Amino acid sequence: MESQPLLSVHLSAGYRSKPAVLKDVCFEMQRGEVLSLVGQSGCGKSTLALAVLRLLHWKQATAEGCIVFNGRDLMAASEREMRAMRGREIALVLQSPLSALNPARRIGAQLEEAWQIHRRTSVTERLDAVHATLRQVSLPSDRAFLRRYPAELSVGQAQRVLIGMAILHRPALLIADEPTSALDIVTQAEILELFSRLRHDLGIGILYISHDLLSVAAISNRVAVMDQGRIVECQPTARLFTRPAHPFTQKLIAALPAMPQFGRAAQAQIA
Ligand SMILES: Nc1ncnc2c1ncn2[C@@H]1O[C@H](COP(=O)(O)OP(=O)(O)OP(=O)(O)O)[C@@H](O)[C@H]1O
Ligand SMILES: [Mg+2]
Repeated sequence: MESQPLLSVHLSAGYRSKPAVLKDVCFEMQRGEVLSLVGQSGCGKSTLALAVLRLLHWKQATAEGCIVFNGRDLMAASEREMRAMRGREIALVLQSPLSALNPARRIGAQLEEAWQIHRRTSVTERLDAVHATLRQVSLPSDRAFLRRYPAELSVGQAQRVLIGMAILHRPALLIADEPTSALDIVTQAEILELFSRLRHDLGIGILYISHDLLSVAAISNRVAVMDQGRIVECQPTARLFTRPAHPFTQKLIAALPAMPQFGRAAQAQIA
């Protein structure tokens, strides 16, 4: 018997000033799977992320349809139930790490607060959880680091702190919306490697939203391609890149830059 999916979505959504942004979006995710969602700017990726977290009301948007997470119907959950689930069972990581952290609070204090939102434990347990999480995201956990302010971190370190915050409660689902767009290419690769490790070590399912097809190719089990509010194709990663079925996917892949060819002329210059 096939196991129950981690997430199953069938959804339409729109803003007051822009209705029908998501049109019957339909997909499933398995436990511990990395599913990437790609598509052009404005196609509705972030709207979908907010919809799964039931946060669209922040933006005066509404959704209808069905979101089943871990066997629970999120569309029927109360705001109180959603609050208990956000950050604990479903976590979100966004694009600009430095603006997501409170500039006036030390890193350690922010991590401890994120712990206390969902758990009442002894101080020792709380600090143990913070230290374990920092190790998990390959950051130092000494006192000097915990006392730093966000402005004293590199963007890559800040993104690791945010990912640490997101996995503090060992969520089953992590939604990462363009988590590497603000990073240089080497730091990007390190963060991608971290996501792969978290999936492997902790079994976290990751909905990875990006328009960077190369990073998507590196970490996903499957890729869903979105165009103008619809998922036009969803395939295992290797298959999507080698045999894209939908014309829009073919166009996206054809637009990937080729590695420059260093031919004879360039070699002659070096010689
Ligand atoms: N608060 C809002 N009010 C009205 N329309 C909005 C609002 N937020 C987004 N939209 C519109 O909804 C559509 C989808 O936006 P969304 O942010 O989900 O796209 P996206 O795929 O995440 O794009 P990007 O890759 O640029 O992040 C766009 O046409 C956008 O203009
Ligand atoms: Mg977006």
